[in-house]
Amino acid sequence: MKHYSVLLKESIDMLDIKPNGIYIDGTLGRGGHSAEILKRLDDGMLIAFDRDSSAIAESKKRLSAVSDRITYVHANFSMMKQELKKLGIEKVDGILLDLGVSSPQFDEAERGFSYRFDAPLDMRMNQEQELTAENIVNTWSYEELVSIFYRYGEEKFAKSIARAIEKQRERQPIHTTFQLVDVIKSALPQKVLNKKGHPAKKVFQAIRIAVNDELDELKKVLQDGMYLLKQHGRFCVISFHSLEDRMVKEAFVAASSIPYFDKRMPIIPAELTITDFQIVHKKPITADETELNENNRSHSAKLRTIERI
Ligand SMILES: C[S@@+](CC[C@H](N)C(=O)[O-])C[C@H]1O[C@@H](n2cnc3c(N)ncnc32)[C@H](O)[C@@H]1O
Repeated sequence: MKHYSVLLKESIDMLDIKPNGIYIDGTLGRGGHSAEILKRLDDGMLIAFDRDSSAIAESKKRLSAVSDRITYVHANFSMMKQELKKLGIEKVDGILLDLGVSSPQFDEAERGFSYRFDAPLDMRMNQEQELTAENIVNTWSYEELVSIFYRYGEEKFAKSIARAIEKQRERQPIHTTFQLVDVIKSALPQKVLNKKGHPAKKVFQAIRIAVNDELDELKKVLQDGMYLLKQHGRFCVISFHSLEDRMVKEAFVAASSIPYFDKRMPIIPAELTITDFQIVHKKPITADETELNENNRSHSAKLRTIERI
């Protein structure tokens, strides 16, 4: 199967790569973005993070043909600052994040990310992590389930689905993706089941976000990442749903805004009226017609970029 890297040209252009710079790919995946960064480096260096060891193993094979100016880090991108310190790196010229799950993770049935295949309820990006989707579905309280279904899935029927899960697991634990799909379907009205789109999509998204603690990961890397940039260094983030995009937008707006001052203050020190960052393009960049036609995943993709000035 062909592997697509979303908003590839757009994100690489926005990174504005210097041939001798130090770059971070926080979400290596199958190395599509990393390959393009490597092609643009002479003396520069790329540090590539992924919490999925199979992503690192596969990309190593693929990228060895492109360049050896790459260091692989098997860690969460929220640990970027600490991991860079171990490598003796304090500041970098650019950071790229292409968030979410990769197509191989979705397409390998046994990873349990997809409602299209019957598989154990897993959904861990890092297979060494303890928490799985099965733990969440079978042990989290009704209130916790409702909360993640609403917040991470924007699922209107969060309460009835959580109630159906609770009832089912009293009889027998829910072990597989198809068992969960059946429980979700049993909790939804017929008119919702008749609608286009898979009825389990929102709940699967919510559980996946919870298993992988995706929003806290993003919050942490947004806080640390901007301050790892050198002057003129750029931070590019591709997100896939409104929760993520809102977090990126708010973090970038806050970093590039002049703090609020009480107008009655007699003199505002000049250094407090300038900011360290500027947003590079006001509107998020989205996929063009060609990409939309070729790659379904690109439909919800949004790229935002900030630069340290
Ligand atoms: C959408 S894919 C990236 C695809 C990649 N840009 C390419 O062109 O092949 C996202 C990857 O990031 C990894 N990932 C997601 N969240 C992560 C996190 N918090 N820390 C480290 N890796 C993460 C996933 O395991 C997955 O392999």
